[in-house]
Formats: sequence, C-alpha cells, structure tokens
Amino acid sequence: MITNDIQYIGVQDHEIDLFEGQYVVPNGMAYNSYLIQDEKTAVMDTVDSRFVAQWLENINQTLAGKSPDYLVVHHMEPDHSSGIAAFAAAYPDATVVSSRMAFVMMKNYFGSDFADRRIVVTEGSTLSLGKHELTFVAAPMVHWPEVMVSYEKADKVLFSADGFGKFGALDADEDWACEARRYYIGIVGKYGPQVQDLLKKAAALDISIICPLHGPVLKENLGYYINLYDTWSSYRPESKGVLIAYTSVYGHTKEAVELLASELESLGCEKVSIADLARDDMAEAVEDAFRYDRLVLATTTYNGDIFPFMREFIHHLTERNYQNRTVGIIENGSWAPQAAKVMTRMLEECKDLTWLDPKVKLQCALSDDSRAQIRQLAEALCK
Ligand code: FEO
Repeated sequence: MITNDIQYIGVQDHEIDLFEGQYVVPNGMAYNSYLIQDEKTAVMDTVDSRFVAQWLENINQTLAGKSPDYLVVHHMEPDHSSGIAAFAAAYPDATVVSSRMAFVMMKNYFGSDFADRRIVVTEGSTLSLGKHELTFVAAPMVHWPEVMVSYEKADKVLFSADGFGKFGALDADEDWACEARRYYIGIVGKYGPQVQDLLKKAAALDISIICPLHGPVLKENLGYYINLYDTWSSYRPESKGVLIAYTSVYGHTKEAVELLASELESLGCEKVSIADLARDDMAEAVEDAFRYDRLVLATTTYNGDIFPFMREFIHHLTERNYQNRTVGIIENGSWAPQAAKVMTRMLEECKDLTWLDPKVKLQCALSDDSRAQIRQLAEALCK
C-alpha cells in the first residue's frame, strides 16, 4: 500500500536485454502502475507488452473481480501504454482518461481512440473519484509531447510519469541517484527547459509522495530528489570532477589518458572518471559528462574524421544540450592528426564551454613534447 487508498499494481522486468532498445539495465526495470480505490476506482497507466497479462491479473486480484471505472493514461510510450487495448477489452464499461494527443496516439497504436468511452483532459482538468480528486498538469516533452502528470490532493500524491524514474526493478538494492541520473540524462536530458517548467508547476503543489512510472515510490526527503532534478535539468554540473572519455585503437591514446589521470591524481584532483567509449557503457559515460564540471576528449583521427565511438559520444552530448562545462582535448593521428579540429567543430554550437590549452597532440605515440603537454593540461584542469 502507498496510502490507505492507493496501491501498487506494477510489474518487474528481469528479462529485458536493452531498455528502449539501447540502455543496458543490469538490475532490470520496473513498469509502475497504481490503483486508486474510492467511490470510483482508477487504474493509473498500464505496463510493457510482455507483462500485460500479469498486470491485468494484478488488477483483478486487487479488486477481487470488480471492474475499475477509469484508466488514466499519462504517457503513451509503449513501456506504459501497451496494456490499453487489453484493458479496454477486459473492462468494456471503463472510461479512458488522457490528453488529446495521447488519444491520437492510441488510434495509431491500437486502431481506436475510444471515442465513445473517454475523457479528454487538459491543463487544470480534474477527475473526482470521491474523496480523492486528480488534477492534471501538462508536461509536454517530459518525455513525449502528450505527457500529463496528475496530482491527487487528499493524499498529496504526484503521479509524475517518467519524471523521477530510474533504471532497475524495485527489488534492486542500489543507490537511487546513480541509476536515476543515467536514466534522466539518457532519456529526458534533451528536455531540460520542459523539465524546468514542470518543476515550477510542481513547486506550487503540496507533495508528500511521488509515484513515478519507473523506480521506487518516493516518500521521504523529497527535496533531495527535486534538487537533483533541478540541477540536471538546468545543465548545472552536479559534482566537481573530470571525465576522461577516450577511444584507442592500439593503446597509444590510452597511454596518454592514463598519464593524464596519474598527473591529475598527483595534483590532488577531486575525482577522475575514465570511460573507454568502445568498451564501457556509453550511457554511463554520457551521464558522467553531465555530472562533472570538466571533460577531456581523447581520440584518434580515423578516415579523415574521428573514431566512430567518439563521434557517437559527442553526438549524445550535443543532442542533450551539453553546455556550461570545461573541456580539454587529446588528439592522435599517425600522419595527419585532425581529431582536435573535428571534435571542436562538433561542439561549436554548445553554450558556455571553456576550452583548455594546450590541446594535446600525439603523432602515433607519446613523445617528450606530448608528455609535457599532458602535464600542462593536467595543471589547467586542476586550476
Ligand atoms: Fe518510460 Fe517515456 O517511457
């Protein structure tokens, strides 16, 4: 039970290989759904397609065979919406409650927009269940355009859709911030201004409990979670530290990275994180780039461009509005190094980047000159 009248009816996914087709989730994934029982009964969102039968059984058992009155749909991404048609078939008298754009998506996904049994809600719409009343708040692009969140004022609960979600099933014993940050930066990171808008609206509500669509229900110390969301969505660095993100073909660029890391350590730099972009989790590297205030990019010149994993990494940064950080560069090239030029150009649209000198140049392997440049770069990073 979450409150006397609100229950968890979600499912835990330990079978998934890649969430949203790209994110490794070693501790699985939770698709959360909730039930509010009052004079009227509302089911809040559905689950991923592979778990719809289990979810319907959760509803059936919890309601002891009684039919729910409403299905509230906050978000149409299939990890939450896949059960809508099956729910509508199982409960033909239930009404579907959602935004206008979500009903268009329902038509596209399921061939029906439930025109004869629906309530279209917009910003400020309310749905009374008895002593509980839901107020809907538009949250476009957190993380799709049709998204709404809702606030239940009797128990002071915010149903926050993807907001405040994390990777990991509910039985995962792990730090919230680590997997919530990787989830946020990866999935919602492009939409910082829209998250800021939602946080402003949420600040006007008296919230005691946050019920997200992924990850645990948050009941205590809500300021901690809200502050992290404010930091992430305003693109402020969360921690002092340096991420060195690199690719290396034969190990020479890696040697340069290791030398830089040891120089930073000897200078007492607070925190140094290293990501081999070809081998380590790309989403974790992207997360760290946004988490820390400084970034070093080290890569080889490749086919007149840069190594593919670095190109992909920088693309992940720019599409998520990477900004307001300090950046250093190490380039390698056996005959015509131009990785520094390519990387600088790729990041030129980013706001408020401070570029460090020197830009370190390796031709094939470390030399006395490049070692000296690395020492200077370490000093610039630690200033
Ligand atoms: Fe968890 Fe945007 O869906």
